Amino acid sequence: MLCLGLLCFLVVWSHESDQQQRHSHPKFLQQQNRGLDTTTNSSSLFRAAPTVSVSEIGISVEEWTRIQQTVFWDGPDQPVTALSMSTSPVHSTFSIQNLRKSYRIGDEIFVTVIARDFKSNTKRYGGDFFQAKLFSSKQKASVFGEVVDHRNGSYSVRFLLPWVGQAKVAVRLIHSSEAVQVLKRHRDTDSDRVYFRGYFKGFDVNGTKLSEVVECNVKWEHNGLERLGGGNCCCDYRDAQTGEVWRCQKPRFLTCNNLVYHSMGGYRNRLTGFERKLMGKKLTNRGIRGDSRVITVLPTNTSIGVTTKCHPGVSTPVPAGFYLKNVWTSLVCSTHHFNNTEAKQCLRDRHIYIMGDSTSRQWFDYLRTAVPTLKSVNLHSQMQAGPLMAVDLDNNIDLHWRAHGPPLRSRKSPVADLHYISNEIDGLAGGPRMVIVFNVGPHFTTYPLAFFTRRVARIRAAVLALLTRAPDTTVIIKTVNTGYKDVFGSDWYALQLDRILREIFQGVPVFILDVWQMTACHYNKENIHPAPLIIKNEMDIFLSFLCPV
Ligand SMILES: *[C@@H]1O[C@H](CO)[C@@H](O)[C@H](O)[C@H]1NC(C)=O
Ligand SMILES: *[C@@H]1O[C@H](CO)[C@@H](O)[C@H](O)[C@H]1NC(C)=O
Ligand SMILES: *[C@@H]1O[C@H](CO)[C@@H](O)[C@H](O)[C@H]1NC(C)=O
Ligand SMILES: *[C@@H]1O[C@H](CO)[C@@H](O)[C@H](O)[C@H]1NC(C)=O
Ligand SMILES: *[C@@H]1O[C@H](CO)[C@@H](O)[C@H](O)[C@H]1NC(C)=O
Repeated sequence: MLCLGLLCFLVVWSHESDQQQRHSHPKFLQQQNRGLDTTTNSSSLFRAAPTVSVSEIGISVEEWTRIQQTVFWDGPDQPVTALSMSTSPVHSTFSIQNLRKSYRIGDEIFVTVIARDFKSNTKRYGGDFFQAKLFSSKQKASVFGEVVDHRNGSYSVRFLLPWVGQAKVAVRLIHSSEAVQVLKRHRDTDSDRVYFRGYFKGFDVNGTKLSEVVECNVKWEHNGLERLGGGNCCCDYRDAQTGEVWRCQKPRFLTCNNLVYHSMGGYRNRLTGFERKLMGKKLTNRGIRGDSRVITVLPTNTSIGVTTKCHPGVSTPVPAGFYLKNVWTSLVCSTHHFNNTEAKQCLRDRHIYIMGDSTSRQWFDYLRTAVPTLKSVNLHSQMQAGPLMAVDLDNNIDLHWRAHGPPLRSRKSPVADLHYISNEIDGLAGGPRMVIVFNVGPHFTTYPLAFFTRRVARIRAAVLALLTRAPDTTVIIKTVNTGYKDVFGSDWYALQLDRILREIFQGVPVFILDVWQMTACHYNKENIHPAPLIIKNEMDIFLSFLCPV
């Protein structure tokens, strides 16, 4: 075990230790005057730092420190006591810097966002979650711009001008800095706000059929998960390979061995009245006012695009690409738009294993449709858990999907069908014909970052072992979609998980297929399950990873 002193826990393990970056003295000296402590029970706000060691997660102290830096998020420098103190989507504005009469394709423009509270005062601190894009409705074109937080109420965005024609800027306030604090507090103290059920089946001593249903969740002695029970409360299901423990309350009559099914249990909304206001509809995901002038982009002799062949380890720039006439041009590497015949050619003689959640199941469904010779095999499994399978015998293609291990917000599914991604990868030989695809994120939004980090670190270990025994295996990671904006699954949570995933897979020769930008800048209303149009563009990148052009 590394670094087990009390101080070390506070410094290394405090989930809010990102705030140390702004202040030179240790966090624990000042935690009492931060956050929303005047409106909530402050004794429950700042729990003792979790007693989890870095070695349990399977990463080094240095790596954990780096991860904490990548998820750093600014926040209020004082207790938030009134709604009027929060950033207002109505009073905040954006402006285009030095707008010229016209631009050339490939030029950049800069936008400044000023966050203001409800009294129209410029904010002193950062932490507002804005999303920005440049778009043309007429040309069905858009591009994502990364918002940089200057931590003083001002933010800037750089945009590439990638298409000829016209463009306008749009900026949305997804959550105010104050609402982000609400999200953070619930993530760090209230992880059982999404809970699950375990279904036990068996017979009593007289041979009568019995079934019992109990509550289950991740075993983690903090963040509210300890509320499942103490002492001898529970059945702990420890996975031998990953060491992860899934925990269910003990059934009254049956034994722990009688657990058969798993399902989503429900949601517990523990937002206080004030927190509900900060997270309210009128303040969430709202476009802000700003410079609505049209940007004119003229052609040049050179067109925008990349010629780099797609290769493992390729990095994701901002922008990662752009839409024009509904078609996404990737700026990550050279991509092709595959018709059905070409898609089939590309998949020929390949064994494709997709693992994750319903958002990667969309990829399975897309491929099945795009290659009509791929026939679904009815495995009589639960659709939300899998396994699902489709085969094309003539072209020797087999396509698989299955859900990642628990936590999984699914309908009632056999527990035995829920496999951890790392275990699945450990059981595959790999090779030039094998394609391994996974995503993790949306089902982890309610848990501490350390828990997600451990899950992803274990997957990385499995991927590294795979690439050691079969270096020519294709591994593709799908990032998170934008979508939800509430305390159970906000884009802010997803973004933090996305950063952890990227940090952990830094330098590992895998393809990271960025869908964050593709979903955040599209004209469709955001949906955790994006429209077929978006999926088609994602799959063109996917196929370009397999069959580089
Ligand atoms: C505050 O939380 C503590 C510990 O969780 C609890 O004992 C106490 O009753 C709470 N106080 C209020 C006012 O809710
Ligand atoms: C905020 O910080 C940025 C970057 O350091 C700076 O350019 C800007 O002038 C600052 N704004 C205010 C209002 O202090
Ligand atoms: C089993 O049967 C016996 C005898 O009929 C009865 O007394 C007892 O209550 C039954 N046990 C259960 C758990 O139903
Ligand atoms: C673009 O091409 C035109 C003629 O084809 C030429 O006159 C002009 O100099 C070129 N511009 C650039 C920037 O290369
Ligand atoms: C698919 O594209 C190829 C060229 O890459 C073309 O030859 C073929 O006709 C196209 N097939 C269909 C069905 O459009």
